[in-house]
Amino acid sequence: MGFPERFLWGAATASYQIEGAVAEDGRGPSIWDTFSHVPGNTVHGDNGDIADDHYHRLDEDLDLMARLGLGAYRFSVAWPRVQPDGRGRPNQAGLDFYRRLLEGLRRRGITPAATLYHWDLPQGLEDQGGWAARETAERFAEYAEIVARELGEGIGLWITLNEPWVAAWMGYGTGRHAPGRSEIGLALAATHHLLLGHGLAIQALRGELGEEALLGITLNLAPVHAHGDSESDRLAQRLVDGNLNRLFLDPLFRGRYPEDMVEHYREKRPGLGVLREGDLETIAAPIDFLGVNYYSPRNVVALERVKDGVAPAGLAALAQRAESRASRDRPIAEELGAAEVWPLHLDTSAMGWTIEPEALTELLLRLHAEYGPRPLYITENGTAVNDYADPEGRVVDPERIAYLDSHLRAAQAAIEQGVDLRGYFTWSLLDNFEWSLGYSKRFGLVYVEYSSQRRIPKASFDWYREVVAASALPTTGAVAMEVQP
Ligand code: FCB
Repeated sequence: MGFPERFLWGAATASYQIEGAVAEDGRGPSIWDTFSHVPGNTVHGDNGDIADDHYHRLDEDLDLMARLGLGAYRFSVAWPRVQPDGRGRPNQAGLDFYRRLLEGLRRRGITPAATLYHWDLPQGLEDQGGWAARETAERFAEYAEIVARELGEGIGLWITLNEPWVAAWMGYGTGRHAPGRSEIGLALAATHHLLLGHGLAIQALRGELGEEALLGITLNLAPVHAHGDSESDRLAQRLVDGNLNRLFLDPLFRGRYPEDMVEHYREKRPGLGVLREGDLETIAAPIDFLGVNYYSPRNVVALERVKDGVAPAGLAALAQRAESRASRDRPIAEELGAAEVWPLHLDTSAMGWTIEPEALTELLLRLHAEYGPRPLYITENGTAVNDYADPEGRVVDPERIAYLDSHLRAAQAAIEQGVDLRGYFTWSLLDNFEWSLGYSKRFGLVYVEYSSQRRIPKASFDWYREVVAASALPTTGAVAMEVQP
């Protein structure tokens, strides 16, 4: 079984999660610096001050990418390195780091895929209202123009935003992410300004780079399944789908916000009331691809069916589990009259997320049918495992190999049904700072021993190297052999 010719095989990271060096070469503070230094916001009080020290270990990490045989590397540019307080003249010392990265990739024949915003907003802009303020969208377009002008050459894929849902709803809705604000009305305003910022940045990038450049956006998308077929379960399903998926897909690809969402959130202030004439045309300007981050689907029931945290038979209301996604998203779901539940028969990752590869096929087919056809890239997919280095110094992670294998098969099933999927980036190249969960969750193909910064490629690294080299998956038997020495 092969993937299409010229299928792009990649791995992804993000600036704040790996770089460290937060006060070097003129970098200004970001909202994640501020947020992670407030006690109680992250597990163990972890922060990104040092992270993977990638800023100082660039060459070593580039060599790992070459060893893996990557066709492409997705990284993000830290806005506060380029504009320390989010506006004004560019900081050349900050840009130089990315010049070295791009040069290193070029020499190794790896295509750069640059994300302009992976959540590290300059604190100076947050102080003026952050994404809840319209001005941030305008500043973002200016920043995009600077990056295009200064670093543009050689970047193969441009991604304006990473997961605007998370930035808006976790950052301004539940407060579990930076900047830690928690009002649904602000999350809606942030949603609109992020999308507007995307649209304005597309104009700026087009102007600077021309028609040839490949421009897109990355969304976190997932099928939402109703468990139960009462009218109230189905309504909960539709609203959660509206919030997570359609609130972003519809303005981007249909030039309008979904009616049920506009109706549901009508009373929230400032909410979508921040929308001005012409904004939707800006947001819906044509792009060249959609980036999809997929980890697991959502399973929901009507909130009224979950009594005192106890779910219907066969389901667990893991909403109580401190680290699960459900607890972080809970206020958003509850406001929609929904509760997230976990079918008991399904495996979960170290994040507590269910593992359902078929849902990836379902998602890709839906995007193709309802919002396409258009070129798609999976810009993140991967899993957290409780990895450890054994006494021989090996990190053996059969769970990750099985996860990647099953999800790549699911992607292939979608391709066989006509989906125009052009590439796959696994999350992540390196173990890294997993936001409010700090260093407690490991997603990398490469294990990082944080105290020494030693890198140890995991068994999944060797497995992925073979997949990339062959542009094909091994037979099922070979997978089993690999993980059971
Ligand atoms: C995504 C983020 C990425 C990483 C993975 C696990 O939501 O884009 O930075 O944290 O989840």
